[in-house]
Amino acid sequence: MLSVLISLAFTNILNNENKLPIHIPPSVQRNGDSVKGYNYLTTGDYLKSGIPYSYYKIFAPKDYNNYLNRTGKNSLVPYDFNVVIAPNKIEVVVPTCLQCHAQVFDGKLCIGLGNTLQDFSRMSDANNPIKNLMSNIMQTFSPKSYAAALPIFTSFDATLPKMQTEVRGVNAADRLATVLVAHRDPQTLVWQQQPILNIPEEVIPTDVPAWWLLKKKNAMFYNGFGRGDFGKFLMLSNILTVKDTSEATEVNSHFGDVLAYIKSINPPKYPKPIDDNLSAKGKTIFVNNCSKCHGTYGSNGSYPNLLIPASIIKTDSMLYKGNQQNPQFIEWFNKSWFAQGDYPAQLQPFDGYIAPPLDGIWVTAPYLHNGSVPNLETLLNSKNRPKYWKRNFKNPSYDYENIGWIYQTVEKPERRTTYNTTLPGYSNSGHTFGDKLTDAERKAVIEYLKTL
Ligand code: HEC
Ligand code: HEC
Repeated sequence: MLSVLISLAFTNILNNENKLPIHIPPSVQRNGDSVKGYNYLTTGDYLKSGIPYSYYKIFAPKDYNNYLNRTGKNSLVPYDFNVVIAPNKIEVVVPTCLQCHAQVFDGKLCIGLGNTLQDFSRMSDANNPIKNLMSNIMQTFSPKSYAAALPIFTSFDATLPKMQTEVRGVNAADRLATVLVAHRDPQTLVWQQQPILNIPEEVIPTDVPAWWLLKKKNAMFYNGFGRGDFGKFLMLSNILTVKDTSEATEVNSHFGDVLAYIKSINPPKYPKPIDDNLSAKGKTIFVNNCSKCHGTYGSNGSYPNLLIPASIIKTDSMLYKGNQQNPQFIEWFNKSWFAQGDYPAQLQPFDGYIAPPLDGIWVTAPYLHNGSVPNLETLLNSKNRPKYWKRNFKNPSYDYENIGWIYQTVEKPERRTTYNTTLPGYSNSGHTFGDKLTDAERKAVIEYLKTL
């Protein structure tokens, strides 16, 4: 109902098709068991090639945090690795979704929070000496271990050197996906030594969306191009090491459960006191200025699932333009194994971005799809957005008033340490809807946003 009213309201304002917000219709999703999904995510073998445990334990220190309270060897590796048995029975350590989709925040592991501390800015020199040493020793002394590691070594060699970002804190997963896809046959998923698609130069930086938003969304990803069965997108990491479609089919069978788990996650609550009067004022301002795109919250809340065209949102264009300029990736996906079978998925590109649900928005700084804006105050007051800014990654500290990372503005940007909003893909432009608010109104809206 809300979405119908919204569409009507927008139709009156704008009359040109590509200038209209577009409602995304729901698609059929699989059901599953969230407990099984959690166990699969944190112990399962959705990657079946990794670093043999016997080598891993020599080269990597034990991690005693055991944030996930796991048992056996899993209790000795970081939360974002699983110890699994490779098809040739060698025990291997594999990276998991939690590399990018979990973060320690104020001493607690928050599953589903996008990891904004990761460093893709050093990818070109990433661990290659260690990897090469391990690989040489294995080839000489334990061919079986080498066989268990070869698929992940092969894809690391092809992808890591191409995944360098300009600054720490943004994610290069889109890049990872495109390079992997370029090396795989769309029907059989078998690895091709020479890329079969043209790989563009640019690395598109993104933030990582929180998992707890997915239960409201009718489409996946910032530009809403992930349509049809979500499970197929959730399992996409499997193409890092997948052997063939029989492996992919087996892994796929678990992703109804993983989806059920992801849908069961709720955002963490804002941990400090909230001024209820101020937040109530903020709610009214929010409903009048923001709800048509971001929906309403609380027990009768409703989310409109709208794609906002570039001509309205005006945030950095590199992410959606990438799809337009490189249709070979969309074509690959839409004729691939992922688009077929009982649970077909599809990519439908759009020039603009989804207006995301704002649940748990207090904890998901930095903001916008490229993480270019450090806090909510500046998101809603665009003249205050810093052009060059840096934050402390060693001792990250959060600003509970302006909501976001404590940052420093700098005069001159430095590669890797400074978020430089003048670089292509890194712009902090657009989304100026908060500019018209008075300072007092903005403060009230931020107080309200703390409650979501
Ligand atoms: C290397 C980092 C990385 C890994 C590993 C990773 N993801 Fe993601 N994921 C991302 C990024 C970045 C996005 C946003 C991409 C975009 O929208 O352009 C994303 C998007 C998503 C979304 C969409 C959320 C939304 O609201 O649209 C889901 C769900 C998701 N990933 C689940 C998973 C699962 C499940 C795994 C493991 C099987 C996984 N991801 C592994 C980085 C990663
Ligand atoms: C015309 C639709 C529209 C209106 C009106 C609107 N927004 Fe947004 N908002 C968006 C879109 C689209 C994005 C994602 C843009 C991007 O990431 O490039 C967004 C992003 C955001 C984000 C960042 C989300 C994140 O995870 O990084 C916040 C916070 C936000 N909006 C708050 C507000 C508030 C508060 C208002 C009202 C003052 C408002 N918005 C008005 C469409 C809108």
